[in-house]
Amino acid sequence: MCGIVGYVGDSTRTDARRVRELLLAGLRRLEYRGYDSAGISVIEDGHIESVRAVGNLDALQAKLAAGTRASGTRASGAPAAAAAAPAPASAATEEAAEEAGGQGAVAVATRPAATGIGHTRWATHGRVSEENAHPHYDSGDRVHVVVNGIVENYIALRDRLIAEQGSVFTSETDAEVIAHLIASHYHGDLADAVRAAYAELQGHYAFVAMSLDEPEVLVGARKECPLIVGRGEGEQFVASAVPAFLAQTRRVQYVENGEIVVLRPDGVTITTPSGAQLQRPVETVDWDEDTAEKGGYETFMLKEIHEQADAVADAVSDRTASGTHVDLNDVGALDESILSGIDRILITGCGTAYHAGLMGRYALEEWAQIRTEIDVASEYRYRRQLVGPGDLVIGMTQSGETADTLAAMRAAREAGASVLAVTNVVGSQATRDADGVLYTRAGLEIGVAATKTFVCQVAVMYLLALKLAELRGTMKRATLQKLVGEIKRLPRAIAQVIDAVTDPDSGEPAGAVELAAERDWEAGFFLYLGRHIGLAVALEGALKLKEVSYINTDAYAAGEMKHGPIALLEQGTPVVVVATDSPVKDKVVSNIQEVAARGAHVIAVAAESDRTIDAHAQQVLRIPDVDWMLQPLLGTIPLQLLAYAIASKRGLDVDRPRNLAKTVTVE
Ligand code: G6P
Repeated sequence: MCGIVGYVGDSTRTDARRVRELLLAGLRRLEYRGYDSAGISVIEDGHIESVRAVGNLDALQAKLAAGTRASGTRASGAPAAAAAAPAPASAATEEAAEEAGGQGAVAVATRPAATGIGHTRWATHGRVSEENAHPHYDSGDRVHVVVNGIVENYIALRDRLIAEQGSVFTSETDAEVIAHLIASHYHGDLADAVRAAYAELQGHYAFVAMSLDEPEVLVGARKECPLIVGRGEGEQFVASAVPAFLAQTRRVQYVENGEIVVLRPDGVTITTPSGAQLQRPVETVDWDEDTAEKGGYETFMLKEIHEQADAVADAVSDRTASGTHVDLNDVGALDESILSGIDRILITGCGTAYHAGLMGRYALEEWAQIRTEIDVASEYRYRRQLVGPGDLVIGMTQSGETADTLAAMRAAREAGASVLAVTNVVGSQATRDADGVLYTRAGLEIGVAATKTFVCQVAVMYLLALKLAELRGTMKRATLQKLVGEIKRLPRAIAQVIDAVTDPDSGEPAGAVELAAERDWEAGFFLYLGRHIGLAVALEGALKLKEVSYINTDAYAAGEMKHGPIALLEQGTPVVVVATDSPVKDKVVSNIQEVAARGAHVIAVAAESDRTIDAHAQQVLRIPDVDWMLQPLLGTIPLQLLAYAIASKRGLDVDRPRNLAKTVTVE
């Protein structure tokens, strides 16, 4: 997830140099979110000085120190390559004030300001490159923007802007379209232009814009992705997270979803998209920097669990924007012509990624009716490679650097199979070893136990399965459309699941999860059971508990229970049963009855409307009534929280479990 920081101050009190320092310091406080490139734009002496760099903030700082006019920097106002395009509205500030009809705000435009925006980018659309780094700018280089999230309809908007305005695009990103769109709507009032642009943008994003024509104004917009204002004296900050300005001010105003914020040195106005002014209290945060990095949550793992709705939205929103089918245009060389010729799939990965692959297998078989196998990478790499042309091998790896997964992918490729990497890290080794890449776009995950990267992997596998179903003609149009719609709504369902079992203030586990944890946190053993795709949920739930609580767990196909694990059951043994809707649910209910009859404490994961389970389980962890194949993705979330709650009660460091590494780069 990218980082945004913006600053507007009064130039009688501050200068461009300090603006850069403040922005850079803000970006450093956002480093924990992960990024691959960064940039800063500052309004200075009647032009915008912009510096962007690939790599870490030291690279950006070195470029800044080398002088902002060194190569790799651009100053607006000078004829740029882009200036071939018709110049957008660029009225001088005084004219703008007149044109705005004395809207008060613009009247102060003549005061020299010290204004800038900065960004750390985690690549989603487009490579890691200086051109793709933010800030992005319009063809006249007068409007600069920094953007988080995804603009779903950027292709349609970009094509229109090129056709109608002659806009010249200089990056491969979806974000750049926002700068051009604002410029096309600019008639002297940046806030009005942002509102007009906002009305046309679809997606899941937050951005901050500034214009050379109104150097004393920053305008931000929030659609889902966070945006927070930091209130200073004669200066204001805006950022995607509080740590960016915590060293300067603790007084904050939260911009809510669907709001536009206008910042000037002496004040902040929050409005609806139509411009109606809203009242918003200024609150004081008492977080220390450590808490601030965790977004106010106790741990990174908890923060990342809470980020899952946003993460999945990033993974699916533009790919399901049509509402009728899945777009995987970003998969690289493995285009539709190759994908439609695939007749067998083999999935490989390690740990949690393997479980995501397992869920993917069920979706590929169920929807695309394609033969699919799966094996853990450490085994697969040493098996005889009976793959070749016509086979697709999918390497699931959030880091893109896991040694066994990379070796398995290479072995398959050498044997002639097409290889697809499903990964979270742009430019990672897996992306270089694969023919195509599907990015999971979960943002950086710091907690060692994978949570948000897992749900994004599953979501992306669902998308792939639907795409193959469409290409292979194995699904009715109406069914495809219904499932695309449900995947589009998954972020809301995820938020619902999390809200139901967490405390609204602290975000800590609550409700049924807390009750289950309270009863069983001292247990020495947990058994997890599931069938069909629910088995993958059981395996992942058991792994999560094992990783963070050090409790011995076993996860089994429920039908196999009688062949061994049933011998382990004693009075009070906690048994987690994934009993989401499925064609085999009746059989799962029978398994619940069998374990309950032996005195087990049953914790069931079940759909909201399913009340048959209540009679047999001590606790039921509910998930919304989405399509039965999608329920398992939601079902993993209360189990993450259960593992978290139990580990917390045992006083353990959930972010850094003993002996585990986030990325295993050795065999
Ligand atoms: C380690 C991590 C797990 C992860 C696995 C695979 O075991 O602790 O959370 O699932 O590696 O990592 P990858 O980066 O390939 O998904």
